[in-house]
Amino acid sequence: MYRYSLRLSFFFLVLATVYAGLTAFSDGQVLWCERPFKTTPIPILKRIAFGSCAHQKKQEYILGEIAKLKPDLMVYLGDNIYADTKDMRVMREKYGMLSCKPEFRKLLQATNVIATWDDHDYGQDDAGSEYPMKKESKEMFLEFWNEPKNSDRYKHDGIYTSYYYGDSAHRVQIILLDLRSFRSPLIGKDYHYQINNDSLAYMMNAEEWAWLKAELQKPARIRLIGSGTQFCTDPNGWETWGNFPREQERMFDLIKSTRAEGVVFMSGDVHYAELSVRKVKGLYPIWDMTASGLTQVEFKSSHNQYRVGKTINSRNFGMIDIDWDKADPELLIRGYDFAARERIVQTVKLSELKF
Ligand SMILES: [Fe+2]
Repeated sequence: MYRYSLRLSFFFLVLATVYAGLTAFSDGQVLWCERPFKTTPIPILKRIAFGSCAHQKKQEYILGEIAKLKPDLMVYLGDNIYADTKDMRVMREKYGMLSCKPEFRKLLQATNVIATWDDHDYGQDDAGSEYPMKKESKEMFLEFWNEPKNSDRYKHDGIYTSYYYGDSAHRVQIILLDLRSFRSPLIGKDYHYQINNDSLAYMMNAEEWAWLKAELQKPARIRLIGSGTQFCTDPNGWETWGNFPREQERMFDLIKSTRAEGVVFMSGDVHYAELSVRKVKGLYPIWDMTASGLTQVEFKSSHNQYRVGKTINSRNFGMIDIDWDKADPELLIRGYDFAARERIVQTVKLSELKF
């Protein structure tokens, strides 16, 4: 009996130890792999890669194709992971999966990387200002993407920011919008969103609009605006700036009133790639190259009257090359498919992006 109870005690001791270990593990910090961010100065920006919509559980071999093309910069346009949670530990685990991917780490070693978010890495499908964990999510986003401690991003709500590259003759401004933290609720259900014409419905809050106005007044020859949500499209049931026509109009009006030249949009979200152009009265043509996704693929494209050329319904990424050697510098806008084949090719002269 004594032996029996001793064995039993030993058994419970082992069980308790194992349980305590597991508990300690489950309450402990989720560790990320070291992220070898490159911060090499870029004297003249010539090649910008961009993409979006990368599921942390899927292989991201396409990042290797991007690295092979040796861009100066890679811009992540959101849904960089599919967090979809209010539990910050779960979000941390999902960022951890991305951090340990060899193909992601190789990309970080190959090129400078900057990022904004979309709904899934913000924390919730199609969420706007109502998402309750936006402060915690922002903290994790900035930590993961290695935001410098002196960054303006820590000083205001949301994650919008801008970057400048090159001397005055080659200055490129990259504006990354936050279209999640302040966006008003969508009307209707997913795939069937309705136009929201309310005068108090916003894509960005007053501070972000004011910041953007100030940015567009700063000197730059080319201004690439990173927008997780497609900018040029009309309402199509899905998420688009077109669901908030007053806000879309406000953007056109802001470009006009600031006389900001050289504006081109880069967007993500929809799980296919396409190039759109809007020709609005009193404004030069506004191009929007959508590159989505790095792992996510949608085979059915929405109707888009502003589309130029075909869609890419496979894994894809976007690229903008700037030929500064021409007297009238040229932007070569391209969309690449899963095998890094050029499927969308459009040249735009800088003189075509002027008033
Ligand atoms: Fe996505």
